[in-house]
Amino acid sequence: MPVTSHKYSNEEITVVWQPNLCIHSTICWKGLRQVFDPAVKPWIKVQGATTQTIIEQVRKCPSGALSYFVNNIMEQSAWPDLIKAEQSVITDTEITPNGPMVIGSDHKTIFADGHEQIQKETVSICRCGRSSNKPYCDDSHLSTTVQG
Ligand code: SF4
Ligand code: FES
Repeated sequence: MPVTSHKYSNEEITVVWQPNLCIHSTICWKGLRQVFDPAVKPWIKVQGATTQTIIEQVRKCPSGALSYFVNNIMEQSAWPDLIKAEQSVITDTEITPNGPMVIGSDHKTIFADGHEQIQKETVSICRCGRSSNKPYCDDSHLSTTVQG
């Protein structure tokens, strides 16, 4: 199923809604009806609350249907405190086309046997299932096909 997304921006952030992922938990509109109101169109009104309140509600979405990003036009120094705090603990993860998932620095991996490893360097996690060095990529995907 193709991924559809709708974007709603205020001056600071853009809220992204992916209807395909929504499991209709009702958490968003029961929690912040001034912004998320399924009875009207458009159903998301980012002018209905402060950026901080919206972010707090978006974080409660259990399916990932709601997410947000900081608008490019905003200088980092002008970010509200909540956004600064959020972004400072975020690790970048990139899904490479038909290849591994690349995780940015400073993350903790919990292995299937329970042991943990703090890693400060970038790692590539196999998505094709053919690596001889799991969970890491060994380039075996180059001779197979990963969907997506
Ligand atoms: S909180 Fe997320 S999953 Fe629940 S209704 Fe809202 S968008 Fe859908
Ligand atoms: S994704 Fe690279 S070996 Fe599987």
